[in-house]
Amino acid sequence: MKTVLTRSPIEAAEFIRRGGIVAFPTETVYGLGASVFDEIAIQKIFDAKERPADNPLIAHVSSTDQIESLTSEIPASAQKLIDSFFPGPLTVVLRKSARVPLLATAGLETIGVRMPRAAAANEFLTACGVPLVAPSANVSGRPSPTTWQAVVEDLDGRVDCILQGDATEIGLESTVVDCTTDPPVLLRQGAVSLDSLAAIVPGIVVFGSDDARAPRSPGLKHKHYSPRARVIVVDIARPISATGNDAFIGINKPSREFKLSKICNSVEEYAGSLFEFFRECDRSGIDRIFCEQVSEDGIGAAVMDRIRRAAASD
Ligand code: TXA
Ligand code: MG
Repeated sequence: MKTVLTRSPIEAAEFIRRGGIVAFPTETVYGLGASVFDEIAIQKIFDAKERPADNPLIAHVSSTDQIESLTSEIPASAQKLIDSFFPGPLTVVLRKSARVPLLATAGLETIGVRMPRAAAANEFLTACGVPLVAPSANVSGRPSPTTWQAVVEDLDGRVDCILQGDATEIGLESTVVDCTTDPPVLLRQGAVSLDSLAAIVPGIVVFGSDDARAPRSPGLKHKHYSPRARVIVVDIARPISATGNDAFIGINKPSREFKLSKICNSVEEYAGSLFEFFRECDRSGIDRIFCEQVSEDGIGAAVMDRIRRAAASD
């Protein structure tokens, strides 16, 4: 398959209308989209990504009106989160409507819904005129793409079109909250922090804690976010025993030199640089990536979540 690269949301939307799959930028990471109502196109997403069939997809909308076609019921907790955080880097899991194919939700009766705030995503979704299911636009298990070039690296020849835009603003995937249970459960950390969620829905609990009753988010059990290099979490206050072929990313300068290193000015920049740094390390044949441990406030919680998963998966 020839993959068309374009900067035109209108041209990209044409491929969706003809039953194709299109990678596009959002404020979190690049997504790989198909119409929610087109099972043949949805199957192409699973094939292109080599995604396990038991990992459900998130539906993306361009307006809150579109949510009605996807769900049978919006609980009060979900409505409050939608009012507070849409459009933005938050996914709410709701009971799905009969129109949403089970292929999109991996057999679940629930569907994750999100409304991206990036202008490029909104223009593209508006041009499509239907909600799109879209997982991150990487081959399963690889770090999520934050640039269109990273999408080319993984999916060139496997998708119909790539909508070229800027590097993504946040760089980590959306926060996911299951609103089908009472209290709602935080399934995946992201730029919308637990504190800011709890300010709107005070009872919210974190998946895995004693209070959480939600079923495990299927995606959480799969290998994730991993570069080929080994990822090691480090405390910057302690000496790091590194060899020649090692890399470092963090917000403080380490006491020794590394073959590759990235010192970020803030935790936000750390979040935004992490996945691209993982890819750069793989391109350079790095063996081990030392990632500085940061405090789990704000987006620091999502940074540490992704680093731990990457470190656990070898
Ligand atoms: O920021 C994002 O969310 C990006 C952009 C493209 O929007 N998308 C993304 O999709 O990260 P994906 O497929 O890579 O991750 C979706 C996560 C998975 O962990 C999946 O298991 C979980 O959301 N998820 C999706 N639908 C779910 C559902 N109905 N119930 C529980 N978890 C669900
Ligand atoms: Mg993903």
